[in-house]
Amino acid sequence: MGEVRRTAHAFFSLEDAYVLDVDSLLQGIPLTASDEAQIVAMAILTGERHPIDKRDWEVLMSIPTDRWVNEDGFDVKVVRGLLDKGLIVSDSGDSPYRELRERDEAMTATGWHPYATLYHYLTQWTGVDIRDGDRVDAELAAETAAGVRELVADYGLPPTELPHMASDHRVALPARARSEPFFRTLMQRRTTRAFDPERQMSLDDLDTVLRYGFGVHGYASRVEGVVCIKRTSPSGGGLHPITVYPIVANVEGVAPGVYHYNAGDHSLALLSSLTTEEAHELASTFMAGQSYFGTAHVSFVLAARFYRNHWKYRRHARAYAGILMDAAHLSQTLYLVAAELELGAFVTIAINGRDIEERLGLDGVEAGPIAVCGCGPRLARRSPLEPRFTPDRPPRPA
Ligand SMILES: Cc1cc2nc3c(=O)[nH]c(=O)nc-3n(C[C@H](O)[C@H](O)[C@H](O)COP(=O)(O)O)c2cc1C
Repeated sequence: MGEVRRTAHAFFSLEDAYVLDVDSLLQGIPLTASDEAQIVAMAILTGERHPIDKRDWEVLMSIPTDRWVNEDGFDVKVVRGLLDKGLIVSDSGDSPYRELRERDEAMTATGWHPYATLYHYLTQWTGVDIRDGDRVDAELAAETAAGVRELVADYGLPPTELPHMASDHRVALPARARSEPFFRTLMQRRTTRAFDPERQMSLDDLDTVLRYGFGVHGYASRVEGVVCIKRTSPSGGGLHPITVYPIVANVEGVAPGVYHYNAGDHSLALLSSLTTEEAHELASTFMAGQSYFGTAHVSFVLAARFYRNHWKYRRHARAYAGILMDAAHLSQTLYLVAAELELGAFVTIAINGRDIEERLGLDGVEAGPIAVCGCGPRLARRSPLEPRFTPDRPPRPA
C-alpha cells in the first residue's frame, strides 16, 4: 500500500443541495433546497468541481498536507475517489497519480497565490466551440443582437454607457483635435472580424508587428543575472512574463505552422508545420470556434511564464492581475502597430486554455495561455459582427 497526503491546492464551499423530485418537475414546481447543504470541492489540480460526502470530508480532514501517511488506515474506496478527484495525492508512480502529484509539487514551487489558482484553473475552458453548422456571420450577428434584447428584457437596460457627475465647478476642456500621425493611428484602432484570404500578409508586416509589438528593445540589470527587458508595452516589475506563440496561416515567405517567437534574436522557431487551412482551424479551435478571428493571417497565443513573475511576486495577491494586464498591454500595442500598418487586428480571452496548453506542450503551471490576438489584411467589406461607431450619441429610451 502506498502513501498519501492532502493537496494544499483545493477549496471547499457549502452549496445548496436540491432533491430531484420528478413529479414536481413535471408539474413545473421549482426545486427547493434540501435542509442540508452540499460540500463542493474545487480541485485546483484538475480544474474540476466535485460534490463530496461526509465520509470524504472526514478522510480529508485526517490526512495532512505536509507529510505522507500510509493509506492503509483509510477506506480504500474513499481514498481512491479522493485521489481521482485530485484532492489528495499519492506517492504512486502510476498515471494519472504521478502527474497529479507532480502538478501539486510544481504549483507549490512556482509561487502561485491560492486565490489566483482558484480563479485561473476553475475558469479555464476546454472544447468550447460556438460554431454551428454552416451558420454565417450575419446569422451570428442576429443571434447576438437577439441575446442582447433578451438581456434587456430580463434585467432592464445596462448601466449607462458613460457616468456623469454633477458638480458646481465644471471645467469645459478644449477638445483639440490632433492630426499628428500617432493620433491618427490611435483613431484607426479597431477590432476586425473579416480577414482577406486573397491577400497574403507581407513578411515585412509580420516582422514589424513582432519587432514593435512583442520585440525586445533593451536590457537592464541591477543584480547580476537578473535581467529586465524593454518592450513597447509596460510590465509589472519589469519582468515581461508573456511569451508569444505565432500561429502563422498566410504570411509571405513563412511556412504555415505553430512557432515560438524568440524575441532574444528576433526569430521564429517552428514547432510544428501546418497547412493554411489547418492553421485557420487550429486558431479557430483555440478561440472557441471564433473562425472570424481564426482565419486571420497570423494569430498570437500570449502565454504567461507564470514563474517569471512569481519568482519575484511569490504567493502575491496582485501577481495574477498584473499578468493579465501585461497580456492586455501587449494586445493593445499589437492593435496599434496593426492600425499603423493598415492591418486588421483582434484580441480575445474566450479561449480553450486547457486545449492550448496541450497543443503547445505547456504544463499550465509554470506556463500557460492568457489570451490570443492576431492580425492580417482586412476584407474591403466590414463583417456584420463589427459595430459601426458614429460620433452621435444615441438617445436613451424613456
Ligand atoms: C479582453 C477582451 C476580450 C475580447 N474578446 C472578444 C471575443 O471573444 N470576441 C470578439 O468578437 N471580440 C472580442 N473582443 C473585442 C471587443 O469586442 C471589442 O474591443 C469591442 O467590441 C470594441 O470594438 P473596437 O475594438 O473595434 O473598438 C475582446 C476585447 C477585449 C479587450
